[in-house]
Amino acid sequence: MSDQRRKIIIDCDPGHDDAVAIMLAARNPKLELLGITTVRGNQTLEKVTRNALNICQYLNIDVPVCKGLGEGIVRMSPPVEERVHGDSGLDGPVFAPLTKELDPRHAVDFIVETVMASDTPVTLVPTGPLSNIAMAIKKEPKILEKIEEIVLMGGAYQHGNVTPAAEFNIYADAEAAYVVFTCGRPVVMMGLDLTRQALCYPEVVERMSKVKTTAGKLFVDLMHFFCMTQKRVFGWAGGPLHDPTTIAYLIDPSCIETKEMYTEIDITGGPSHGRTNCDYFNLRTDVPKNSKVAVKLDVDKFWDIVEDNLKLYDAI
Ligand code: BDR
Ligand code: CA
Repeated sequence: MSDQRRKIIIDCDPGHDDAVAIMLAARNPKLELLGITTVRGNQTLEKVTRNALNICQYLNIDVPVCKGLGEGIVRMSPPVEERVHGDSGLDGPVFAPLTKELDPRHAVDFIVETVMASDTPVTLVPTGPLSNIAMAIKKEPKILEKIEEIVLMGGAYQHGNVTPAAEFNIYADAEAAYVVFTCGRPVVMMGLDLTRQALCYPEVVERMSKVKTTAGKLFVDLMHFFCMTQKRVFGWAGGPLHDPTTIAYLIDPSCIETKEMYTEIDITGGPSHGRTNCDYFNLRTDVPKNSKVAVKLDVDKFWDIVEDNLKLYDAI
């Protein structure tokens, strides 16, 4: 019998919410995680790569981890997001000495080789700046034919979180985002409008603390720190758990309502640089719609998906 699981590559910058996205994906029976690639974002490239390796080692996830770009494809990257994710980029949990080794391939080469070698289409799941994905598309445009969808966290049709106009992942490498949104393959955008509905309050952490698995423990250790920084930095009791919405959508698309629209990335370098200009009311009749933009989250279903997937790990 053929393997019907949907093949995915997660391109990320862990990051507390990136870590949860990896957790949801790695054991889910509907998904086949082919590998994890890293990109500078929440922290330096070295730190986020170390974090990805630590997550895999802790959860016994046996997939290649490949290091990618440490800067934007055109501009220097903005400062890292230390206030929310801490000095390591993944503060909170304590990890054992690292023994899992980095795959020697560059992330861009890994993406190109893996997609080209696959006998079925591959879905790319970027949860950080889009530098690696854009470079892979430019390096080998033939991958486009084999990309099923690009399901990403980034952007906003309303307000930004790093400037009034822009969300962090898109702002951090707007030119790369431009490449991705104009590549011709279907893009599903989990923007801030959606992820601000995925609020991880202490009650959620309490609920997940009853899941006695390695992933349950890691979730709780991560979210204790995350809730603490949300309170300290923004004065909020809980914060948006952005990145796992991508994987929740792949596991059960009915938990997220999307709207097809044309999205254009602002790369003008002005005050709206990095904004995802989403044509919510379909005013641009001259251009084809290039994205499905997430608008509404079924919050109960989302946390059920998180809980169900944390349960799939080894008991502690
Ligand atoms: C995005 O930026 C990062 O801080 C998070 O991991 C998420 O991918 C939200 O703007
Ligand atoms: Ca991220």
